[in-house]
Amino acid sequence: MLDRWTDLINSGKPEIDVEKEIISTAGEIIAKTSFGMSYEYGREVLDKLREMQITLFKSNRYIGVPFSNFLNPKEILKAKKLGKEIDALLLSIITARRKSSKRHQPQQNLLGLLLAENTVDGRLGERPLTTRELVDECKTFFFGGHETTALAVTWTLLLLAQHREWQNELREEIREVIGNGEIDATMVAALKKMGWVMNEVLRLYPPAPNVQRQARHDIKVDNLVIPNGTNMWIDVVSMHHDQNQWGQSVNEFKPERFKDDNLYGGCNHKMGFLPFGFGGRMCVGRNLTIMEYKIVLTLILTRFSFSLSPSYSHSPSIMLSLRPMQGLPLIFEPL
Ligand code: HEM
Repeated sequence: MLDRWTDLINSGKPEIDVEKEIISTAGEIIAKTSFGMSYEYGREVLDKLREMQITLFKSNRYIGVPFSNFLNPKEILKAKKLGKEIDALLLSIITARRKSSKRHQPQQNLLGLLLAENTVDGRLGERPLTTRELVDECKTFFFGGHETTALAVTWTLLLLAQHREWQNELREEIREVIGNGEIDATMVAALKKMGWVMNEVLRLYPPAPNVQRQARHDIKVDNLVIPNGTNMWIDVVSMHHDQNQWGQSVNEFKPERFKDDNLYGGCNHKMGFLPFGFGGRMCVGRNLTIMEYKIVLTLILTRFSFSLSPSYSHSPSIMLSLRPMQGLPLIFEPL
């Protein structure tokens, strides 16, 4: 991706829509790291998942409406067809991997581990993961594992294009921590300022804009009773922009709010900052994300400086994830 950007700049096209580029690279990374999959195979799954996301989003305002399947039959049919195609693709990958791991050492990636362990603690004790469950696990990781990280990087590039002093701060930190060598996984933790920037971006533009829970029994909150079975959407975007919790500067980009309070960014409420959810179902991929984010951002910052293109139109929208609907065109200069 970065070499392609350099070629574009050198051929007189310094304006690049980075959102698309980064989503596609993050897809490549998850396909490889989690499934040991080639780019082409991964691309096919990702394209179909994206199409399904758009199709389902068009129809999801009817969720919970009785007979809603009849309200938009075309979208429902299309989503079902895409679902079957994705399942078939993943199934062929799993079957091929099962065969090859009988002959060779299992691959060191998530799918290799799932196939090697291949058991789950169910109600009736330990049992093997069914193929259906394996396919579902793959879908969760494929989908959950690339777009969110890509959007964290994308929104970061927007904020760094608007706050160029922070581009310099981060370059300075990279120089101190990594020098002129190559970044590796052991250096990531020392990139502290980059960690504040990541948290502040996840606060202002949380890629996962809501978290869902279901009440498993009646719950009393002050005078309010939430009945058993109620589905709840926790609006993370609103919580991250609540002036009562974050103070006057709530809408400003101020990474230093995480300097002395790495976990909560100075928020008055300890549940006020939830980019990765909370409790037992908190995001399992957050450490991978932090590593991927810091490595990708380091590579970008050490090769280019960038500013916002005049053609950028600010339109954050929720399409399951929180995305810049008109993309993110930036103007690049090589360093
Ligand atoms: C910036 C990046 C990411 C964000 C903002 C994010 C956010 C979230 C959120 C909000 C949840 C729901 C937590 C809850 O209900 O309390 C979640 C769950 C999950 N995430 Fe992430 N995620 C990110 C990256 C990743 C990556 C890279 C992976 C995989 C490699 C991943 C895999 C998962 C999985 C499997 C779950 C379900 C966990 C469960 O139900 O136990 N996520 N994520």
